[in-house]
Amino acid sequence: MSYTVSQLLTQDITFQPIEIKGWVRTFRANRFIALNDGSTINNIQCVVDFENTDEALLKRITTGAAIHVKGELVESQGKGQKVEIQVHSLEILGDSHPDEYPIQPKKHTFEFLRENAHLRTRTNTFSAVMRLRSALSFAIHKYFNDNGFYHMHTPIITGSDAEGAGEMFRVTNLDAKHPPLDDDGTINYKEDFFGKETNLTVSGQLEAETYAMSLGKVYTFGPTFRAENSNTSRHLAEFWMIEPEVAFMDLDGNMDLAEDFMKSVLSYVLEHNREDLEFLEKRLLDEEKTKPQAERSEMSLIEKIKFVIDNNFKRVSYTEAIDILKNCKPNKKKKFKYIIKEWGADLQSEHERFLVEKHFKCPVILFDYPANIKAFYMRLNEDGKTVRAMDILFPGIGEMVGGSQREERLEVLKEKMKALDIPEEELWWYLDLRKYGTAVHSGFGLGFERLVMFATGMGNIRDVIPYPRTPQNAEF
Ligand code: 4AD
Ligand code: MG
Repeated sequence: MSYTVSQLLTQDITFQPIEIKGWVRTFRANRFIALNDGSTINNIQCVVDFENTDEALLKRITTGAAIHVKGELVESQGKGQKVEIQVHSLEILGDSHPDEYPIQPKKHTFEFLRENAHLRTRTNTFSAVMRLRSALSFAIHKYFNDNGFYHMHTPIITGSDAEGAGEMFRVTNLDAKHPPLDDDGTINYKEDFFGKETNLTVSGQLEAETYAMSLGKVYTFGPTFRAENSNTSRHLAEFWMIEPEVAFMDLDGNMDLAEDFMKSVLSYVLEHNREDLEFLEKRLLDEEKTKPQAERSEMSLIEKIKFVIDNNFKRVSYTEAIDILKNCKPNKKKKFKYIIKEWGADLQSEHERFLVEKHFKCPVILFDYPANIKAFYMRLNEDGKTVRAMDILFPGIGEMVGGSQREERLEVLKEKMKALDIPEEELWWYLDLRKYGTAVHSGFGLGFERLVMFATGMGNIRDVIPYPRTPQNAEF
């Protein structure tokens, strides 16, 4: 019978002989194959009877080769594993050309592995990261399904540029060299595929709101695109975002939902992906040892995840945060690149990180931001100058979540759009929600890759998505 490595290592196997297919990780002393098939971080040891095996065949058992093994699962004679396979027969399914194969059994830099992203999941680190990514994705769908949310697929090509979340990628099939022109020399998008200018979406929120106002509780989980030229370890041009949207829920409810949701999905991987987490924790500890003492983290990876699950997120208004920042040491000593002078300042990532990493030392929910640094659709507070916005900041990551209570009052929303020059014709359908059966509603967006970064301890967002899209880079 055919098994996976995971089954052989964890289940009681009664049918013998067994069969398995996988890739050779290492081959030692012409005898011991460490075999992996992706089902677990662990390898199974296959013991070859080398005296009775053709030498030409032995030579082809090299790191990276795909093989098919038949044999008997037995208690291991050696240390390091409970069971192993006594090989009866072995077939090479695919040679690995050891002189050229890039993934050798040694430490490779992440930069090198990024250039070989099609092979990097053959390493322990990247297979663990991608198994965790998959588990988190499942846990997210499970959470919403368990809690009465409907999954909605919002469009990826959009005709509205209202979100203002950043630069957009144009979608067009016009002839780049000879586009149709208007009399004034500008491109005539009426002749484009959709008869208007279209872009890749930066967020599914506005469409999700339409469904929340009939189905009650919905969420979208899809790719979003931003053409910002920010080459940082936390930005991608193509990333995945989870956006729940709930009718009759205010900002407090939104904070409760976001916190419960994040704790729940992190608990899921703590329970189901223990071995991968332990491997990544150890990797991180080794990496920490190379850093100066002062920069080392006080908690291990699993401790950090548990800390987030076990402690309340600190809820702090923007106004309180500004007071803290104005009076903090790095601000007074001009250590910040952007000095906080007064209320109204937009917070940079250095300020956010100070608040979570140095001041509060836990996840922080900042709320009630100045209206003029936030999007048009956020609900205006009674003070007339702040909006019911919230950002969730995480240690080591910075902004993980952005959300708000939405402006449900037609006149207030229209006025805001007018002030920002957002044409009503473009968002007529969005305004209709406020016209027909309007209600308090709220939602947020969680950047999936930032969550994967937190759960895996990876420091660069390019290493938690299979094929990162960043400025000047769309290989694979
Ligand atoms: O704060 P943002 O821009 O919020 C929205 O788009 C709202 N429409 C969400 C909503 O209320 N439904 O983005 C949400 C999150 C950020 O907090 C961050 O985690 C992530 O998306 N994010 C990015 N992740 C990777 N690369 C980028 N370039 C990102 N930009 C935002
Ligand atoms: Mg944001």
